[in-house]
Amino acid sequence: MLFTMSDSDFEKIKTLIYEKSGIHFSENNRPILESRLRERLKIANLETITDYYKLITREEEEMKILLDSVTTNLTRFFRNTAHMQAFEYYIIPELVEYKKKKNENEIKIWSAGCSTGEEPYSLAMVLAETLPKGFKASITASDLSLKSLMTAKTGFYPETRIAGVPDKYLPKYFEKTTEGYQIVDSIKKMIKFDYHNLKFDSGLKGLDIVFCRNVLIYFDEAAQEGVVNRFWDSLGNHAYLIIGHSESLFGMKTKFKFHKTDWATFYTKMPD
Ligand SMILES: C[S@@+](CC[C@H](N)C(=O)[O-])C[C@H]1O[C@@H](n2cnc3c(N)ncnc32)[C@H](O)[C@@H]1O
Repeated sequence: MLFTMSDSDFEKIKTLIYEKSGIHFSENNRPILESRLRERLKIANLETITDYYKLITREEEEMKILLDSVTTNLTRFFRNTAHMQAFEYYIIPELVEYKKKKNENEIKIWSAGCSTGEEPYSLAMVLAETLPKGFKASITASDLSLKSLMTAKTGFYPETRIAGVPDKYLPKYFEKTTEGYQIVDSIKKMIKFDYHNLKFDSGLKGLDIVFCRNVLIYFDEAAQEGVVNRFWDSLGNHAYLIIGHSESLFGMKTKFKFHKTDWATFYTKMPD
């Protein structure tokens, strides 16, 4: 079946995707959207975009599948060494000291847009190595890609995917099988994977750290601002926000403060 997408079809579908997820399609990435739609139309056995539009506005499940299919899920273990070092050598020690003073012993983290799980598992391994005795960490990891979440939940990765895991962590936190590497239970237990669309409020409160790296780039400015301000509401009043190294809050209406360390830059929410 030959399928062409008119300008008005493109406008209609991209507007709906934007309203549902914040993901913004420009003329440049129109071919990606066309290719995903071609696949979906074939599977749904439909001929026209108009028919498909009717389907996604009627059936929530198909809308979810379309959103999943247009996401970019590229990720890897210990992505961005500078961020991982700032987390290990600056943020964790600072938060531990702060919590001790308050007689608290838990660090709460959200990996928002966690894709197939490499980011939250990397954070959990660093926490397992560095948290002092008596301290615990809980990580909520969320995404709107159900396919990615399924991989994340298994915690199983083929050999090609484990590049980046430091040598000392590999035998300690993975079990080698004939097909690949399985994350050990003690690390899995630290993470709760959940479906969540960043377009909406998560209901999470009092978090110490939000990692949302390489997600905002898919949104336009208005959607980015909405997401970032919802992070503000989810964080406690002594907290950190880490976004991707090519992302910035510059020019955005937000109360987050830019913070520079020897390792990396990120944002903070601290009392004045
Ligand atoms: C490139 S991956 C980044 C993964 C990881 N944070 C990293 O930096 O390696 C972007 C992820 O954001 C997710 N995403 C995009 N829009 C989203 C939305 N509205 N709500 C939740 N997740 C979203 C995608 O499904 C994808 O898994």
